[in-house]
Amino acid sequence: MRTTAIMNLKGGTAKTVTAINMAAILARDYAQRVLLVDADSQANLTEFVTEGLPDGISLGGFSDLLRGTEAFPMPTKMQNVKILAADATLMELDVTATTTGLAHPMALADFLDTVEDRFDWCVIDCPPAFSAGALAALAAADEVVIPMKLDAFGIRGMANLMEQIMNMRRVNADLEVAGVLPTMVYPDPEQQKALEDLRFRLARAQIRTFRRIRRSPKVDQSTFAQEALIYSSPKGKITHDYKFFVHELVGNEEGGEI
Ligand SMILES: Nc1ncnc2c1ncn2[C@@H]1O[C@H](COP(=O)(O)OP(=O)(O)OP(=O)(O)O)[C@@H](O)[C@H]1O
Ligand SMILES: [Mg+2]
Repeated sequence: MRTTAIMNLKGGTAKTVTAINMAAILARDYAQRVLLVDADSQANLTEFVTEGLPDGISLGGFSDLLRGTEAFPMPTKMQNVKILAADATLMELDVTATTTGLAHPMALADFLDTVEDRFDWCVIDCPPAFSAGALAALAAADEVVIPMKLDAFGIRGMANLMEQIMNMRRVNADLEVAGVLPTMVYPDPEQQKALEDLRFRLARAQIRTFRRIRRSPKVDQSTFAQEALIYSSPKGKITHDYKFFVHELVGNEEGGEI
């Protein structure tokens, strides 16, 4: 099983949208059995791919796993895609994780070992912070994909992210950066220049930059329809962008060294 964490400490860079669409494409077009992990207490991913969770009921989701109890992947609306769901109780763990660390830092890594024969690819949607979910995710992941919005805040934030990932390699020495995925890219010349600059800077650091995901109103529409883009907008340019990204990622056997 290949395990990819979708991560950026900055909020709103299309981590969740990337996790959803990557999972849908891997399942449908590459016949992969996909396990999604919602490591974010906002639970955006869980709400998107399931019919909604009954309040206050423990469902054997991701936070149960981090507490050391049993977890069960739930079915989603997509064939061949299951999810380890998040709920708001993950937030309590986030608070304790920052002060006393995680009680079970390897819980997700150990769990993935037990389901190795049931899934081909695990995609983890990380929160925009170094919270409990992110720590467990990085400990379990083979690689990180870093979706990035092309603005100065995002680009400066990335240096910080690299530093944090270096620290995480103390927990998981094999963690690789699969690459940075520029998201919400406008077609104007300023953005194209920013993209070229980014590509150049990352190449110098021996980090791969995936082509790009264009900005499109179809993404917001797909969140209302609660459908991945390959279903809600099969012919859209943005759908093509996500397909191309997955094609790049699938072909990348090596990943890039940090
Ligand atoms: N390519 C795109 N074009 C237009 N809008 C987009 C695109 N990608 C994402 N969005 C929108 O940007 C917003 C943020 O996306 P998303 O929730 O995936 O980000 P995130 O990184 O997971 O955020 P958070 O850090 O809060 O978890 C959403 O409203 C989403 O619909
Ligand atoms: Mg998110």
